[in-house]
Amino acid sequence: MNQDQLKQAVAQAAVDYILPHLERNSVIGVGTGSTANYFIDALARHTFDFDGAVASSEATAQRLKDHGIAVYDLNSVGELEFYVDGADEANDRLELIKGGGAALTREKIVAAVAKTFVCIADASKRVPVLGGFPLPVEVIPMARSHVARQLVRLGGDPVYRQGVVTDNGNVILDVHNLHITDAAKLEADINAIVGVVTNGLFAARPADVLLLGTATGVQILK
Ligand code: A5P
Repeated sequence: MNQDQLKQAVAQAAVDYILPHLERNSVIGVGTGSTANYFIDALARHTFDFDGAVASSEATAQRLKDHGIAVYDLNSVGELEFYVDGADEANDRLELIKGGGAALTREKIVAAVAKTFVCIADASKRVPVLGGFPLPVEVIPMARSHVARQLVRLGGDPVYRQGVVTDNGNVILDVHNLHITDAAKLEADINAIVGVVTNGLFAARPADVLLLGTATGVQILK
């Protein structure tokens, strides 16, 4: 199976995983990216089994609507039972790097509200140590240079993601050359820099379940 087929397999596995728990009034948190898109496509075959979704990006909201799935504002729903989203890297503790698609802040907000975060990824995303994938940091535009200098002090090499504006009107710095052995501490340290909106480490709130697409089938890691 190629990478796209593995993503499709985990997307279907996520639908199978959450479906028995859904009720007609359930609202599902939905992530962003190519794996999340496959999840939306698979979910769309079950629109009578749940009420709608909260989207982690404008792109996801549009794809959900295109499938006829109702999209709700997070402020108008209560606690979400599930959040389903991809990742750029995942370690054995189910700590993640996310934000390759620049949607990290809304992803982190929706994940924070969900009781269960189901991460879906192909096997290439599983790593022993986070940091091979450059860590995205969402930054208020006027603070870009200041934040970049502070990120260098923390040991990284930030690169401005040219031409990208987030759904929140901010910019992204991708931090290269990190070897992240204490993800929770680095997540907190970066978030403490004035001008940072949030960073793409999901360690304070890791995934609860990782559905990993491998050549021999979908593995369920908890
Ligand atoms: C979006 O901002 C990201 O967090 C994505 O979830 C992540 O980049 C994974 O994307 P793919 O599913 O496209 O690999």
